[in-house]
Amino acid sequence: LDDKDDEIDNDEIEDCAMAGKEYVKEIERARRDLRALISSKNCAPIMLRLAWHDAGTYDAKTKTGGPNGSIRNEAEYKHAANNGLKIAIDLCEEVKAKHPKITYADLYQLAGVVAVEVTGGPTIDFVPGRKDSMVSPNEGRLPDASKGASHLRNVFYRMGLSDQDIVALSGGHTLGRAHRERSGFEGPWTRDPLKFDNSYFVELLKGDSEGLLKLPTDKALMEDPEFRKYVNLYAKDEEAFFKDYAASHKRLSELGFSPP
Ligand code: HEM
Repeated sequence: LDDKDDEIDNDEIEDCAMAGKEYVKEIERARRDLRALISSKNCAPIMLRLAWHDAGTYDAKTKTGGPNGSIRNEAEYKHAANNGLKIAIDLCEEVKAKHPKITYADLYQLAGVVAVEVTGGPTIDFVPGRKDSMVSPNEGRLPDASKGASHLRNVFYRMGLSDQDIVALSGGHTLGRAHRERSGFEGPWTRDPLKFDNSYFVELLKGDSEGLLKLPTDKALMEDPEFRKYVNLYAKDEEAFFKDYAASHKRLSELGFSPP
């Protein structure tokens, strides 16, 4: 009887390992499709913003929200903070249709990782296995761009992230721009919003310049002494920024997730 039990267990483990291997292969295929899609549509900025907004609702105390694909629910993508992100959700559907086994949660985080990579940013380690949820958090968990340092800390500490994570991840604004009809703000943060580099921090230190945007929350990074240390570092040392950004982005993409 003991022998038989062992056999069953081993078979189950093998089945699981096979399913896991197949899934990892599918992830690699989806990664290639995302590279092609994001390059051809120049949609890296909005894909990165989608990944961040799916993950950034995480609440470490209640273990709710986080990178679980719930932003695809109409109730959630209609939150004011998510204005415009339906475009990115629809673009991801093209990839989901070709790789239906991949969860939305994994797909959105993979899209964020690929967006950074194809625009010249650091390679971010991606571990698959996130589960999808249909439960959306209440509105109001994402940061409000009109506020300051203490608001940023409240929101990011709730996720379990640090001051350094706040500054490094804010460097995501090296990509893309604000759209008046989506957020009320307008314009890009840098001169080349399709290139991932440290220019967000360089521009921040330069102060106001014609045609470039600084949100109140961006300016808070300059004014708070603890944040400012990292702004200074990342402006002068792009390698330090890339290294810290890759680590912070991985943490953001894995909030509440323990790899299988
Ligand atoms: C865009 C706020 C953090 C990535 C925006 C916009 C706002 C905003 C108001 C403009 C949306 C629009 O009008 O289209 C904030 C605030 C943050 C924050 C208050 C708090 C620190 C982040 C983080 C990332 C990120 C952590 C990624 C790591 C982006 C990107 C865009 C964007 C890529 C451009 C989207 C596009 O071009 O369509 N953000 N953000 N943001 N955000 Fe953030």
